[in-house]
Amino acid sequence: MTTKLVFLGGGNMAEAIFAGLVNNSQFAIEVIQRNPEKAARLQNDYPSIKVNPTLDYKLNQDDILLLAIKPQQAKEACLAIKNKIHDCLVVSVMAGLSIASISSWIDNPRIIRTMPNTPSSVAQGITAIFAPSIISAQEQQLINLIFSTIGIVYTAQTEGEIDKIVPLSSSAIGFVYYFMEGFISAAVNEFGFSQQQADVLIRQVVSGSSALLSANPDISISEQRARVTSKKGATEQGVLTFEREKLHEITKQAMQNCYLRILEMAKEFN
Ligand SMILES: NC(=O)c1ccc[n+]([C@@H]2O[C@H](COP(=O)([O-])OP(=O)(O)OC[C@H]3O[C@@H](n4cnc5c(N)ncnc54)[C@H](OP(=O)(O)O)[C@@H]3O)[C@@H](O)[C@H]2O)c1
Repeated sequence: MTTKLVFLGGGNMAEAIFAGLVNNSQFAIEVIQRNPEKAARLQNDYPSIKVNPTLDYKLNQDDILLLAIKPQQAKEACLAIKNKIHDCLVVSVMAGLSIASISSWIDNPRIIRTMPNTPSSVAQGITAIFAPSIISAQEQQLINLIFSTIGIVYTAQTEGEIDKIVPLSSSAIGFVYYFMEGFISAAVNEFGFSQQQADVLIRQVVSGSSALLSANPDISISEQRARVTSKKGATEQGVLTFEREKLHEITKQAMQNCYLRILEMAKEFN
């Protein structure tokens, strides 16, 4: 059976998701993109999907609507099409917006909340998914299938977990890049490497470290770290410096502050 899958918004996240599904005959994809230039570009790049400026018909119970607009635009956009979307299954990728808020705008309790991260755009993502009890196991499976095309899926047991996962699954990407910037700065300013050399080298370090972990899934991260940290060796001196300066305590504070900001933003949106 083919399932109609309609994206409200054809921006970065929507495209990351439907790009992985265009050749899957299980879904008939339609994208609502109001900007004509963006719509033309999408239609040109993905000839097998339908691109329309508005949703001008009612979606039925078996159809899926994926809300991929900015949280700030959501209330107005949902209210404008409310009478067309209160029977279908609704999936939100919008940060910070609760199921209760969306449900109250569209008078539809069948809402699944998801939180993909940015590497989803290169099919290396993590998507946390929370489905309330009104959603059937079959519907959950279908949604898992959609997000499996852009990376791994984490099944949240409560809606609160969707906010709690952000410091780890999304913000940690920024934290890793920030850490990399520190290595580049030290390599350039203290060790005389050019910016470009340091950039190439640290990218390779991070992708190589990640590849090593992937190639050895049974070896824990701590064990891999111990393997590259010989007793009385050079790396150990660096690790001891991080320990002395309480890097893990700083990391904990960074994650806590990140989470507090998520809760603050959620108050603004809901
Ligand atoms: N990007 C990420 O890495 C990421 C990660 C996790 C979650 N998200 C969530 O994904 C959602 C989309 O983010 P994005 O990065 O894809 O944003 P984006 O690239 O700005 O895309 C937003 C899209 O929504 C469209 N839109 C806005 N109002 C609309 C309306 N009333 N009717 C129809 N379309 C409308 C915009 O169209 P116009 O171009 O015409 O304005 C645009 O195509 C956000 O809620 C965000 O929280 C994104």
